[in-house]
Amino acid sequence: MDRTLVVLYGSQTGTAQDTAERIGRQALRRRMKVRVEALDSYNVAGLISESLVIFVCATTGQGDPPDNMRNFWRFLFRKSLPAGSLCRLDCAVLGLGDSSYPKFNFVAKKLSKRLLQLGANALLPVGLADDQHDLGSDAVIDPWLKAFWEKALALYPLLPGQSLMKDEEPLPPRYTFQFLDNILEQSGSRVLAQEASGPPSSARPFLARVVSNRRVTSLTHFQDVRQIEFDISGSNIEFTAGDVVMMRPSNTPEDVEHFCQALRLDPESQFTLKSTDSSTALPSRLPQPCSVRYLVERFLDIAAVPRRSFFELLATFATNELEREKLAEFSSAQGQDELYTYCNRPRRTALEVLMDFPHTTAELKVDYLLDLFPEIQPRSFSIASSLLAHPNRLQILVAVVRYKTRLHKPRRGLCSSWLASLDPSLGDMYVPLWVKKGSMKFPRDPDSPVIMVGPGTGVAPFRSVLQERISQGRTANVLFFGCRSESKDFYCRSEWEEMVKAEQLILFTAFSRDQEDKIYVQHRVKEQAKVLWDLIANKNAFFYIAGNAKQMPTAVCDALKEAFQTEGGVSASEAEEMLDAMERSGRFQSETWS
Ligand code: 2AM
Repeated sequence: MDRTLVVLYGSQTGTAQDTAERIGRQALRRRMKVRVEALDSYNVAGLISESLVIFVCATTGQGDPPDNMRNFWRFLFRKSLPAGSLCRLDCAVLGLGDSSYPKFNFVAKKLSKRLLQLGANALLPVGLADDQHDLGSDAVIDPWLKAFWEKALALYPLLPGQSLMKDEEPLPPRYTFQFLDNILEQSGSRVLAQEASGPPSSARPFLARVVSNRRVTSLTHFQDVRQIEFDISGSNIEFTAGDVVMMRPSNTPEDVEHFCQALRLDPESQFTLKSTDSSTALPSRLPQPCSVRYLVERFLDIAAVPRRSFFELLATFATNELEREKLAEFSSAQGQDELYTYCNRPRRTALEVLMDFPHTTAELKVDYLLDLFPEIQPRSFSIASSLLAHPNRLQILVAVVRYKTRLHKPRRGLCSSWLASLDPSLGDMYVPLWVKKGSMKFPRDPDSPVIMVGPGTGVAPFRSVLQERISQGRTANVLFFGCRSESKDFYCRSEWEEMVKAEQLILFTAFSRDQEDKIYVQHRVKEQAKVLWDLIANKNAFFYIAGNAKQMPTAVCDALKEAFQTEGGVSASEAEEMLDAMERSGRFQSETWS
């Protein structure tokens, strides 16, 4: 009997990938053969000949599939797929979602339905994990997996003479490191730059030079916001307003140093990687040979808050009694509250955890590094410039993330701090990046006005829109911008003022802390009810919201609906329906992030 489990994942931030890998390890403990792959790296046509597959899929944004399963998604919903094509397949679907978004676990639910339609046999109902309640993954995922393994082992039992592997017994690593005796010359940071052919992508990013990196908030303001410009000449990168740039940050030199010291690794040593199992592909982003510094700096996510699987794996290496007990507790279902208090709440990093378990850390085998640490994930930023106004350039606005928890050292956002640290006056700095289509679409009709509400760095995509539209001679633009103080964080002010002077923009500002009572963008929207109603009801205006304040979009929508009622004389439910209709026809769009 073929006891192979294929675990296929669609993951945006890495949680689904981590869960998929965890399931893979559980399968190995049940003596199964296993393959864990991103859905888009998997050859879908192979599904008809698999026997047992688990799908682990996140739902992103407005109910969309993650980037690394988009091609699979398109393929699976082709009308031409025959109804019984998956009748030999035993499968199960585990969804990772967030119930604070309206389309909770939409992807997993839709996938599960479609698999059944194609004739697959579902071993159990779709699992619906919820980020709001299931941080330690014990509430939904653990019971779901327990039920899955009962079914799977009944259908694919252990072979005679086989027994389950114990939890304490370490699994073999996925890769082995072979260190080189002689250090080879590497071409430094540009080592992965390849010949340009087609637009850059995650697998083949463009190394863009940092042209400028300027703080745009006053030095007395609590928040450091940067306007960063990249040179993208010769990259084949094209973008329009609303598009997004993706980039992968590096770890700080101090973290790399600490990590290498704790693990007694020489950062300059070089190695080649070999998979221990022929079905495990080598990570394509790593050069061969690779230096330890490159691996630690650019690949291993040592600055993230580690997941439970990190503790599970670490526990199998611990020989020190005290450390082993603690790690075993953090790995167990009962220990999840404590793990949350120790790790997630204070945002403790994986590197800091290693420092708390010095005995285990000193004994870690290098071969396990890629099992322990996930790959650094790309981050996305709304592009804040237009190629029409700034040819060969790409600009972003970045708020540098820095905050305190009960831990002594302030917490820093990996990507924003790394970007802020790139000082082009010290020499050429390069950032690996590529561009992705954004979800916001802007009107084709040159006469349609656009109304944009973008407090804080939410204004970034609208700066791109304004530059693009003004270059095209489209001057019916309204912007609501909000920040704390006119003198501290009113960035891009002179640009807006020039546009206002040239009658290309109508600007409304809300400075929340320049007076006793808070004034927010939604208050300005309410005040401008007459103008807005006229633009929307009579001039076919499009309305956009972008930003990271959680309550802001709802408050702005409420203000807008109120404007419909006061100026348009419609009832509350009619106002609601109007906004829904605008949303359906693309005339109301919002993009929010946290
Ligand atoms: P605050 O920090 O003074 O509360 C950009 O971050 C601007 O968005 C700031 O002026 C911030 O105000 C404001 N902001 C915070 N929460 C908001 C909300 N719920 N609605 C609208 N604006 C908000």
